[in-house]
Amino acid sequence: MERLTIETRPIEGQKPGTSGLRKKTRTFMEPHYLENFVAAIFQGIGGAKDKTFVLGGDGRYFNDRAAQVILRMAAAAGAQRVIVGRDALLSTPAASNLIRTRKTDGGIILSASHNPGGPDEDFGVKFNTPNGGPAPEEVTNRIFEASKRIETYTIVETTDVDLSAPGMTTLGGMEIEVVDPVEDYAALMETLFDFDKIRGLFAGGFTMRYDAMHAVTGPYAAEILETRLGAPEGTVVNAEPKPDFGGGHPDPNPIWAKDLLDLIMSGSAPDFGAASDGDGDRNMILGRGVYVTPSDSLAVLAANAHLAPGYSGGLKGVARSMPTSRAVDRVAEKLGIDCYETPTGWKFFGNLLDAGRATLCGEESAGTGSDHVREKDGLWAVLLWLNILAESGQSVAEVMHAHWTAFGRNFYSRHDYEAVDADAATRMMDALRDRLDELPGQSVAGRTVESADEFSYRDPVDGSTASGQGLRVNLKGGGRIVYRLSGTGTVGATLRVYIEDEGADPSTFDMDTQEALADMIAAADEIAGIKTYTGRDVPDVRT
Ligand code: G6P
Ligand code: ZN
Repeated sequence: MERLTIETRPIEGQKPGTSGLRKKTRTFMEPHYLENFVAAIFQGIGGAKDKTFVLGGDGRYFNDRAAQVILRMAAAAGAQRVIVGRDALLSTPAASNLIRTRKTDGGIILSASHNPGGPDEDFGVKFNTPNGGPAPEEVTNRIFEASKRIETYTIVETTDVDLSAPGMTTLGGMEIEVVDPVEDYAALMETLFDFDKIRGLFAGGFTMRYDAMHAVTGPYAAEILETRLGAPEGTVVNAEPKPDFGGGHPDPNPIWAKDLLDLIMSGSAPDFGAASDGDGDRNMILGRGVYVTPSDSLAVLAANAHLAPGYSGGLKGVARSMPTSRAVDRVAEKLGIDCYETPTGWKFFGNLLDAGRATLCGEESAGTGSDHVREKDGLWAVLLWLNILAESGQSVAEVMHAHWTAFGRNFYSRHDYEAVDADAATRMMDALRDRLDELPGQSVAGRTVESADEFSYRDPVDGSTASGQGLRVNLKGGGRIVYRLSGTGTVGATLRVYIEDEGADPSTFDMDTQEALADMIAAADEIAGIKTYTGRDVPDVRT
């Protein structure tokens, strides 16, 4: 086996975003593109020599090829061992778990999360640190710097490693351990939740549909829900991971999981519905006739987590990303625990979880998780919901109404304007930023602006800071509008507008969210000039 040193040149734009480096798959397939970035990761973490890594991905197109390249580069760089999921598959939370429990030096996750897959779609590579979480900015900056200086990389020349069955093998002196992707993760779930109780729920005729969206969680959900918890066969649909996710967007929201939403709103709805995304870290929660927003889900989980064995001792604290609704803040206040507000990106929760300041974290972007791993975890959220339903004996609708009655309701919606001209989006944000100081006291769409600022964050654990994290406008009476440009898009810019209003009157709880927010939605456009700058009349996605 020959170890080759390949000459290369820096490739522009290898700057990891909100969650790793995401590009068009064809970009990753260009000569040296993947190799340069992997070499930059190794350099950015001080080399791969004698290190142990976890490797796996969501099974999208190019996952298998990329995994082989990374194994060959890890071998050439002198890594001691790579623990890789069978067929190079690992959900993101399962990878995080392995990185932690096997005490490794980190892991490489191949995924573009909820973005579609295929030769003309998206691919991504992300490095997670030994705590199991996405690399913090200090590390991704080093990786980016390394990518700008690269002149050569090393790789061994060999045939493909057989990853089709668990077992040990070697590659140029490096050990490769192929593991069942589900086993350790399922075992972890059994320690957190009352499987007997949930089994009893299913045995009693409780019905559920879990849509794996042809993404990585199919095998996980089938094993846990059907095999271990006794849900009837067929509870998990679209369970087979496919390189193109069956042609869909593996994004569990009302647009892309419309079949499931239609079913849950129909006369033949099951009691409970759920879906997760490409790499298994996002979730969508539904109950007969009810869509639970991710922000509400976080609040409900925080209020009821003590019903599951893994959280029976209570929560140390909670954390949410800034644009996430403040429903969870109300729960934290009542429980007398801390509530942290972080920038968008799961990596910002890492320090709070490591330091034991927060137990539960969540984001409006369909991410919820806890200190059991250092990623958000779709199936975990589903199991915590199931545990709560089993323990309380309530339906999802009953849980939601009880929650709103106790805490009030935060009406919340995110409006996305996708593939907007990047310059126009930047101009809009710049213009708004310049006017933030003038906004307080102004009246817009019948509401008065109370305060406005740009969010920046100082990590309470290590003191690191992040600025430019979204423009916030607070309105009198509790409403809030947040403007942000997405850090995960691959084409143009995605403008996200997060709209929230508080309601305490129970007679409004069943109102349609868009209706309840109509004046705020008008105010959002009036304040920023969305139509004028983007030329768009309506958002592409409303969550
Ligand atoms: C990924 C990250 C999340 C983030 C989401 C949306 O899923 O893991 O932490 O909330 O992307 O990010 P964006 O920058 O596109 O709003
Ligand atoms: Zn994801």
